[in-house]
Amino acid sequence: MKPWDAFGGDAVFRPLLHDFYARIKCSSIAYLFPPELIETEEKQFAFQSEFWGGPERYSPWRGHPRLRARHMPFAIDQAAADVWMSCMQEAVAHSAMPTEYRETFLQRMRLTAQAMINRSVADGVQHPF
Ligand code: HEM
Repeated sequence: MKPWDAFGGDAVFRPLLHDFYARIKCSSIAYLFPPELIETEEKQFAFQSEFWGGPERYSPWRGHPRLRARHMPFAIDQAAADVWMSCMQEAVAHSAMPTEYRETFLQRMRLTAQAMINRSVADGVQHPF
């Protein structure tokens, strides 16, 4: 079975990512994101689906992920990555993802979040849109 299906597929990730962005919106890094998070949520859903072996929803729509490059316009320091990660941890904790897979998922998110750090100190510049 593909990880996407083992984790619970669309039925788990839709509400999980909705909850995640609701948490982001209330967090100290909300200023980095566009005020309307519907499309951001959709991109994240498409990315996770493709990444974990589910339907290929991201690259036909957005092309190669180039995640680090795509995050470069946003000043992400260690503190921002930690806030992102705690929102994700909370969302997973409140989700229906089977408990035995949660750490596998979170470990990968932790590695990716660390890789997105692109400034030693965030400059507080807001999302341009
Ligand atoms: C480390 C903390 C992170 C911050 C502060 C952050 C912030 C952002 C921001 C501001 C955007 C632009 C939103 C938009 O224009 O709709 C974005 C896009 C995105 N992020 Fe992150 N992100 C982080 C980590 C991650 C991680 C760990 C992943 C994947 C596991 C990820 C996946 C994505 C994806 C797929 C997009 C959409 C890219 C596109 O197609 O344009 N991000 N992120």
